[in-house]
Amino acid sequence: MYPIVHADKLAANIYRMVVRAPRVARHCEPGQFVIVKIDEEGERIPLTICDYDREEGTITIVFQPIGASTQRMKELGEGDSFEDFVGPLGKPSDLIGMDPEELKKKKIIFIAGGVGTAPVYPQVKWLHEHGITADAIIGAKNRDLVILEKEFREVCNLYITTDDGSYGRSGMVTKCLEDLIEKEGHEYNHCVAIGPMIMMKFVCLQTAKYNLPTVVSMNPIMVDGTGMCGACRLSVDGEIRFACVDGPEFDGHKVDFDQAMKRMTMYKTEEGRALLRLQEGETHHGGCGNCGGDK
Ligand code: NAD
Ligand code: FES
Repeated sequence: MYPIVHADKLAANIYRMVVRAPRVARHCEPGQFVIVKIDEEGERIPLTICDYDREEGTITIVFQPIGASTQRMKELGEGDSFEDFVGPLGKPSDLIGMDPEELKKKKIIFIAGGVGTAPVYPQVKWLHEHGITADAIIGAKNRDLVILEKEFREVCNLYITTDDGSYGRSGMVTKCLEDLIEKEGHEYNHCVAIGPMIMMKFVCLQTAKYNLPTVVSMNPIMVDGTGMCGACRLSVDGEIRFACVDGPEFDGHKVDFDQAMKRMTMYKTEEGRALLRLQEGETHHGGCGNCGGDK
């Protein structure tokens, strides 16, 4: 069992939990995810790691209750436990593998949207611990939905923007990025954008104009997180990829967002899944180890 050592609410419908999982905490890197399961009946929920403490043996997760399992999860508190807490899964962020001296030459901008702010945090913190101070934009619908502001301020140069202008700058993250680059003279050569699919799509359209390499996290299209359900299939540079096995991070300029969003909607209904099977054949990846997948 994996006990919850701390639980709090970050904003309306956004919850944070610190879970004791020493083995995951020992091995995880920024960009990776875990799969949590409340009990025997619970669904598997893939969540990108928000923070980790190797000494304490804990992992921090942040989630937004949307389905039945996450609704049940929000009822859990300190002293409750998860039956399963599997990880670390997926590939770490590319930044982690880079030579620190090369990294220091980079001018990095992180773009975090809504709940997607949580998975950005470990990357920004990791860079700070390695002597690199990046810029970061946090975008939220309004003041009440801005999360982790204090944590970000400690590890980066932070710009906050709200859609309704109730806090920080006014407008979406794309407006803030445009202002930073076009009006305020900032120069960047690496961008990481994590948030809703539609945000990542529009950030990528914008950064393509600036010739600014952009990494995105395709966690939102994952369902079981094991490479077997086929939900997270996407097209990257015309090739079939699976977010949970080959990602979750990809070159955003090569991701077909329109197809991924359409597929995500279809995957939600039985009829849609049947249609996908008809169009794509068996959609699973071969994570079962028996069939060789459908690549
Ligand atoms: P939201 O709808 O409040 O959007 C957050 C910010 O994204 C907005 O404030 C705005 O600045 C920007 N944005 C939204 N639409 C945009 C557009 N068309 N153009 C430019 N910018 C735009 O976000 P939310 O409700 O907190 O997000 C929930 C979504 O985040 C869920 O769909 C979830 O799947 C996703 N999410 C993604 C990740 C990931 O790894 N990519 C992680 C956690 C959550
Ligand atoms: Fe099921 Fe990736 S989430 S195959």
